[in-house]
Amino acid sequence: MKTCMQRWIAGCFLLTMAIPALAQETVNTVGNVEKVSVNGQTIHLKISNAAVEITVCSPTMVRVRMDRQPLKAAFSYAVIAQPQTTAIKTSDSPTTFTLLTDSLQVVVQKKPYAIRFLNIQGQEINADEKGLTTSWVGENVTTYKHLQEGERFVGLGEKTGPLDRFGNAYTNWNSDVFGYAVNADPIYSTIPFYIGIHHHLNYGILLDNTYQSDFSFGASTDRYAAFGARAGEMQYYFIYHQQLADIISEYTALTGRMPLPPLWSLGYQQNRYSYYPDTEVRRIAQTLREKKIPADGITLDIHYMDNYKLFTWNKDRFPDPKKMISDLKADGFRTTLIVDPGIKVEDGYAAHEEGLMANVFIKYSDGQLYSGQVWPGWCNFTDFTDPRGRAWWKQQLHHYTDIGVAGIWNDMNEIATWGQKMPNNVLFNYDGHPTTHLQAHNVYALNMARSSYEGAKEATHERPFILTRAGYAGLQRYTAIWTGDNRSEDDHMLAGVRLLNSLGLSGVAFTGMDIGGFTGNASVGLYTRWIQLGAFIPYYRSHTAVNTRSSEPWTYGEETMEIARNYINLRYKLMPYLYSTFYTAAQTGLPVQRSLAIDYTYDDKVYDPQYQQQFFFGPALMVIPVTSQQTVVKTYFPEGDWYDLYNDTLLTGAQEKLLETTLHKLPVYVRESSIIPMQSLVQSTSEKPDDTLRLHIYKGHTANHFTYYEDDGISYAYEQGTYYRRDIAYTPATHTITLGAKTGKAASKFGHVALILHGFENLQPTVNGKAYTPANARLPFLSPISRFDPQGGFTPVDSCKVQVIQLLNSDDKVEVNL
Ligand code: NOJ
Repeated sequence: MKTCMQRWIAGCFLLTMAIPALAQETVNTVGNVEKVSVNGQTIHLKISNAAVEITVCSPTMVRVRMDRQPLKAAFSYAVIAQPQTTAIKTSDSPTTFTLLTDSLQVVVQKKPYAIRFLNIQGQEINADEKGLTTSWVGENVTTYKHLQEGERFVGLGEKTGPLDRFGNAYTNWNSDVFGYAVNADPIYSTIPFYIGIHHHLNYGILLDNTYQSDFSFGASTDRYAAFGARAGEMQYYFIYHQQLADIISEYTALTGRMPLPPLWSLGYQQNRYSYYPDTEVRRIAQTLREKKIPADGITLDIHYMDNYKLFTWNKDRFPDPKKMISDLKADGFRTTLIVDPGIKVEDGYAAHEEGLMANVFIKYSDGQLYSGQVWPGWCNFTDFTDPRGRAWWKQQLHHYTDIGVAGIWNDMNEIATWGQKMPNNVLFNYDGHPTTHLQAHNVYALNMARSSYEGAKEATHERPFILTRAGYAGLQRYTAIWTGDNRSEDDHMLAGVRLLNSLGLSGVAFTGMDIGGFTGNASVGLYTRWIQLGAFIPYYRSHTAVNTRSSEPWTYGEETMEIARNYINLRYKLMPYLYSTFYTAAQTGLPVQRSLAIDYTYDDKVYDPQYQQQFFFGPALMVIPVTSQQTVVKTYFPEGDWYDLYNDTLLTGAQEKLLETTLHKLPVYVRESSIIPMQSLVQSTSEKPDDTLRLHIYKGHTANHFTYYEDDGISYAYEQGTYYRRDIAYTPATHTITLGAKTGKAASKFGHVALILHGFENLQPTVNGKAYTPANARLPFLSPISRFDPQGGFTPVDSCKVQVIQLLNSDDKVEVNL
């Protein structure tokens, strides 16, 4: 028996033993710079507790890498660009090391290490928070940046919450979140890139680390904005430009841009979970045509498969999928199929047996196959981070591409499994850098989308349409993304707009959300508002869950169907504008759906919660989302003049306004000086429009130009110069409209051009120096929805009073003087 004293002594001993263990859990800072060496554009810093490498990637972009162990050869799934040769100057002193490009000064304080980015005039753009800089807590590495006065933060990809993320914190861990709340975090994808805005000094930061990462934009602290990851290197890119558009452009030069998608994927897509059997699919397509609702795509969800087994068909439901797909194509419908990563564990099931033979499935650290449950039951999962896994998947995709499938919809790729807790101790190839689930999780979907994209492209030699639910920075190189299982609620429609605006700020141009909402049943009002809005969203697809009210426009009654048709018609008439906008997005990385923050960065109202949902569809059209309950909508017009799309009523900007709305009309305003090419109505993009390109030009004060682009819409011939492009310029100062000479080897599909002039009066124009008398006309953008007029009479439709100049479409420069 121990005495009390003995117990007390033993207790004290145990306590002292425990102290060093507790003391280990501390904040480990980087320390002091001990040595600097310059190697071309890369500066190596030996710091007491870490190795740091600073690389100048361009005059406006710098990469910082940091680790407590020697830095390994850089490897990234996000970044595809190599550093550009850039002239730099350096200077060294006992206290600082300075690096200069023609746009940036990078100043490294030595004791302790801290980095500051300044412009050439010496204004601080971004700096480490003194005393905190970068540190480790356990394996978790974080960089702390001083909060600048009035700093705003936008971007970070598919993140819920407000446009200005100041005061909020986020986690990146791709997650399957069925029916997520409008403020849920994380959701499906990870794009660790944000833009900081203050004092006309804007910058972007990409944290390139695929472990679970955390961002705080001054959440619960007045000192810093911080970013960090649960393990791995601190590696980030800093990009400086005054314009947000330039930051997005350089970020997408770094991580890649959207390839030009097939034209059909910009048309309306009809979906539900799930259309089957084939007769039902055909009925939906036929009904769209009969009811004259233009559409280009039908999407098949998981019920096309035999027991949810990938690369199979349920033969009772789809006895001849090849014939169905080809008949649909003949009628102007492309077929998109869903694919999930899980391959059912089943003897005799070809995909499973072939996957085992090819040894491409993910394993535990002891070599046993990892199995998780999804729709088909227990599944194995292809390692898409392994080049062999991707090659195998591409082979399997032939089951679809060989029979004419044009779109591949990559679902459940977070990876989603029942239980939602994929183990940490499963191993991934990570392209020759073997690792665990912890590092590979966030890039699994990116690599699945990549192999679907490459597989479909190689098999068909046509532009594939790829859709994904999850992803990582750089996903835009391969795929469009949609925002997963939203709810049929007003708040979700608005939250969806913010998600897409944020994705656009983060380099992703091709985005969509389930129109009508996935879970639950939309009210008639909500579906009506959502399908109108969808006409102005890059990927326009109705979708809904199993056992909910179906998402076809006719499900919600005659009036809604007429409104839906009206807006889908408008979308198809806007196709030349939309396709050209996608072309520009592919060239510049700028989004198709744009937050107002891109062009009106310093206008506080743009970030006001009341107005943060407003967005641009392409460069010209400002869209104001309206919920099902609203009859009056408060709207903000930034500076400049704005035309009501439907009747040309002119509004002066820099003002808030209450707009009255009816269910028939979604408020859309045209920015002054806009140039909007349109065409006649077609029922699908495979139908040829009439011979006249309608070029709408809106009078304004600012010079503007628009890159007009056509090609065959499906092949890669454009890469060899088979396209038709011309620059269209409107210069108010000289009262001229110039159609530049065409470039490219293709002819235009339009033999005539009609210049449709909005807001101009009493014109006496000349065309290439010759006098021309324009015609006056009235032009409606929407058809009247007369049947529902409570008075029983004909509802007069809004129309625009315009002047029209008809031209033969030549390939040469045309100058119109107004
Ligand atoms: C989850 C997806 O988010 C949803 O869109 C799809 O309908 C279901 N999986 C079934 O495949």
